Formats: sequence, C-alpha cells, structure tokens
Amino acid sequence: MERKILIPRADGLRSQVIFGSAATLLGGLIPEGTRVIAIVDANIDRCHGELLEAYEKIIIGQGESVKTLHTVEELLRELVAREADRSTFLLGVGGGIVTDVTGFVASIYMRGVHFGFVPTTLLAQVDASVGGKNGVNLDGYKNMVGCFNQPDFVVCDSSLLASLPDREFRAGLSEMIKAAVIGDEELFEMFEGHTFEAFRDDAELLSRAIERSVRVKAAIVERDEREAGERRLLNLGHTIGHAIEKSSRQMLHGEAVAAGMAVVARWAAEQGVCSGECADRICSVLERYGLPVDSPVEPNALRKAITRDKKRRGNRLALVVPVRIGECRIEMIDMD
Ligand SMILES: NC(=O)c1ccc[n+]([C@@H]2O[C@H](COP(=O)([O-])OP(=O)(O)OC[C@H]3O[C@@H](n4cnc5c(N)ncnc54)[C@H](O)[C@@H]3O)[C@@H](O)[C@H]2O)c1
Ligand SMILES: [Zn+2]
Repeated sequence: MERKILIPRADGLRSQVIFGSAATLLGGLIPEGTRVIAIVDANIDRCHGELLEAYEKIIIGQGESVKTLHTVEELLRELVAREADRSTFLLGVGGGIVTDVTGFVASIYMRGVHFGFVPTTLLAQVDASVGGKNGVNLDGYKNMVGCFNQPDFVVCDSSLLASLPDREFRAGLSEMIKAAVIGDEELFEMFEGHTFEAFRDDAELLSRAIERSVRVKAAIVERDEREAGERRLLNLGHTIGHAIEKSSRQMLHGEAVAAGMAVVARWAAEQGVCSGECADRICSVLERYGLPVDSPVEPNALRKAITRDKKRRGNRLALVVPVRIGECRIEMIDMD
C-alpha cells in the first residue's frame, strides 16, 4: 500500500507527501509530456544523477551562503534563457537549501509554476520540504524573504539517505526527536528502543520514523499553515538553538536544536512545567544519538544572543516548552 499524507493547500488542492522509491514514483506524479527542469546541487548530481537522467537540470552552489536573492535571480534568468513557460514543472532534488530556493523560484517565476521536491537529507525529508515555507536569506538574516506555498508533492525516499554523512544524518534525527517530543510519544519510544546504527542501517525502521515525524508536522501545518499560533510549537529547541548557532559557528542546525531542546527541557522541569523524568528522557535520547545536551556558549553570551534575536517583542519571550513527552506548549517568559 502506498503510504502518503495529504496536506490541504490555500488553493483548495492538497499537497501530498509520499514515502517510497523516488525512481519508481516520480514518473506517475508528473503529468506525461510535462517539461521538467530539476534544480540540484553538485553533490546530488554526483551521488544521485541516475534519478535525474530523464530531466533537464540546473546546478546551484552549496551551503547557506548560496541561499540568496542573487541565486534566485540567476535561476530566474536561466529559466528565461531556456524559455521555460508556465507549464514547466520545477523539481527540487536536494537538501533544505535546494528545496527552499526551488520552492521560492517556482512560486514567483511567471507568477508561479508547479513544483515538487525530492528531499535528499534527513532534515529536508522531515522538516524543510514539508509545510510550504520557501525563501532565502537577506544580508545574513535567515529566511527574511519568501512565501508560503506548498509543493504538489514531496517524495521521501529513505534510500537516498545512504550517501549522507553521519553528522548530517544525526542533525536530521534531532528534528525527528523534536517532532516526537511535540506530538508523538510512540515515535519517542522508537528512539528510546533503538540506536543510531539501527536507524542508519534499517531502511524500513527509518522510513517509518520519517513518516511519523512528517505526520506531526503535517497535522500542525494543516491547522495553522501561516504560523498564526500553533505552528510555533515546531520551534521547540529553536529559540535557544538559533542563539547557539549564531554564537558558535561550529554546530550544525540540528545539533544546536538538540542542545536548545535539552536546555529548555531542564528549565521546564525546574519550573515544574514538566517532570524531571520527562527532561531526563529527552536528554538521554539526545545523548543516545550522539547529540549535544549542553550549550557550548557561556550563559551570558547566550542570553544576549536570545535578547537580540527577540528584541521586537520587548522583554517577553515566547518559548516552546515540553509538558510531557508528546505534548508541548508556548510559554511567554520574562527575560529577567
Ligand atoms: N522551509 C522550511 O520549513 C525549513 C525547515 C527547516 C530547515 N530549512 C532550511 O534548510 C536548510 C538546511 O537544509 P539541509 O540541512 O538539508 O542542508 P543542505 O541543503 O545544505 O544539505 C547539507 C549537505 O548535504 C549534501 N547532501 C544533500 N543530500 C545528500 C545526500 N543524499 N548524500 C550526500 N550528500 C548530500 C548537500 O549537498 C549539502 O552539502 C537551511 O537553510 C534551513 O533554513 C527550511
Ligand atoms: Zn530546525
């Protein structure tokens, strides 16, 4: 049976997230005779070029520094040069950088063309490709320019992750553990009952866990696509995580989120919002997967980074805190 999740879109149609082999599924997802242009980075072209043989492709650079309006403009020019029209389909194949940029370009080229994603990092499969946030950074500020627009489809193919380095894989697991803490205790127990090696080697186990993580996000996005309220729950670990990321350039996003989650869980236990046992479980699972549970940034510097980040909200900070495993809530806290 095909495993898929349907997420309603603003246009009344539904975005589908499908779990299975991209090589098998892609042909059936794009209407026959459609001109497809794939947008990828050089790594993907090298590791998974066979997936792209049927399509024209455009290769973009790698890393956060290419997630800019400059790259968007270059892509738009390239589409014009290739005489892409409103019926052209854009297929983003890659990590979150590729999917964020592709989704944005597809949303504005000729006022919008159809697009789909094949995310190739664990982080992109469980997070970046799902939920319709597309965009780029501006002058070093993350995701300052963009739009909400969900792709026609996302194909989550766990076999594409075999070529992903361990460290990137681990960073993706961090966002899955986050999803479990927000809304799926059984998924959390899957992490407690297995090991890093099991998730790396057992494609079936990994695929089931990816699907459960996506379900947590999809359910929240369905209720609050434009982040008016509930969608902010997905920021568990991110307020502190972002501050850590900014102050210590050594950490990957997922690693910083893990440390942020651990710090917030211990704080929530101290405040009596969750039990000490709940905080301990969160920290032990993160450690079990080799993720950090402490901030490498000294508390005062961290506090400054958080204040800078949120200064528009005055002295109050919206912090997502665990209540128990599988349930979180947003607390307005005083920075003092
Ligand atoms: N739109 C959203 O809702 C959302 C959510 C979370 C994160 N993001 C964005 O996602 C971006 C990060 O995404 P990411 O972590 O996927 O990073 P990334 O896209 O930079 O990919 C990480 C690295 O892995 C390589 N790679 C990708 N797939 C591979 C594979 N299968 N095998 C070997 N190497 C592979 C890439 O070439 C790259 O060098 C950030 O810009 C972040 O803002 C967006
Ligand atoms: Zn994140």
